[in-house]
Amino acid sequence: NDKEVVVVGSVNADLVVGVDRRPGPGETVLGSDLAVHPGGKGANQAVAAARLGGRVGILGRTGDDGNGELLRASLAGAGVDLAHLLVTPGPNGVALITVGPDGDNSIIVSPGANARLTPADVEAARAMIAGAAVVTFQLEVPLETVLAAARVAADAGGRVVLNLSPPAPVPDELLRLCDPLVVNEHEAAFLLPGHDADEDPAALASALLARGPRSVVITLGGDGALVADASGSSAVPSPKVEAVDTTGAGDAFTAALCLRLARGDALADAARYAARVGAASVRAAGAQSSYPSADDELPA
Ligand code: RIB
Ligand code: NA
Repeated sequence: NDKEVVVVGSVNADLVVGVDRRPGPGETVLGSDLAVHPGGKGANQAVAAARLGGRVGILGRTGDDGNGELLRASLAGAGVDLAHLLVTPGPNGVALITVGPDGDNSIIVSPGANARLTPADVEAARAMIAGAAVVTFQLEVPLETVLAAARVAADAGGRVVLNLSPPAPVPDELLRLCDPLVVNEHEAAFLLPGHDADEDPAALASALLARGPRSVVITLGGDGALVADASGSSAVPSPKVEAVDTTGAGDAFTAALCLRLARGDALADAARYAARVGAASVRAAGAQSSYPSADDELPA
């Protein structure tokens, strides 16, 4: 009963308000009614991969405030194994999200219980992590926990995927385990002093490869993605869709990528499928609530 994809990461309640424009310091604006959606980059990835038919587990922590039920129910409903979804006394992770008129989002994350995920929790989940074909990470849980779990995965011959979001400095040891490292242009530039986000993505990709990951995926929103490894790089198109809410589209992309890699696809093929799953998700509100199932028709 080994997992295809194990997610080590965050579980958040997303508090979402639509706005025409965002307030500056000292300003007040009126927005839409509040929507509360299950989110968190880790839980989003787990739900996305499970809805697509994957055998998926998550290592994470929820709190014991009123949001926990919603967060667990979404994961359970998608079929994610919750044996290592632990409960910490105190608040759940929360994301304060504004969605603009073009479906663009801005997010502030309050980590809550996610900050309490420890290397000891990784130890307790060792068998699940070591048994996974792909183990995927983001940076909304402590870095020492990510590093501990990535070591377990790599030592067991699993494939480590890291989405450097939100961007934070990471040790070279972690970068070298990534296959691929998944970043957008801003996260790429963050890792590359002297480079900037509007540079040619192929130049960013080769500079990133020089930092040690075995492969790199640069996500380019509506323009698709660029995948690169030692054998070269290739552009991956994105279907054109009307964006309602882009929140969590990157998580859907990464989850679909991980699932296809777990099933033996080459990186560029996995990324082509992932771009279609990401595009499907921007057509509806919320993150998890917008993710397609295996039998939904994806945009082409
Ligand atoms: O990537 C989108 C996610 O980022 C949201 O669901 C929010 O919880 C934050 O973690
Ligand atoms: Na969406």
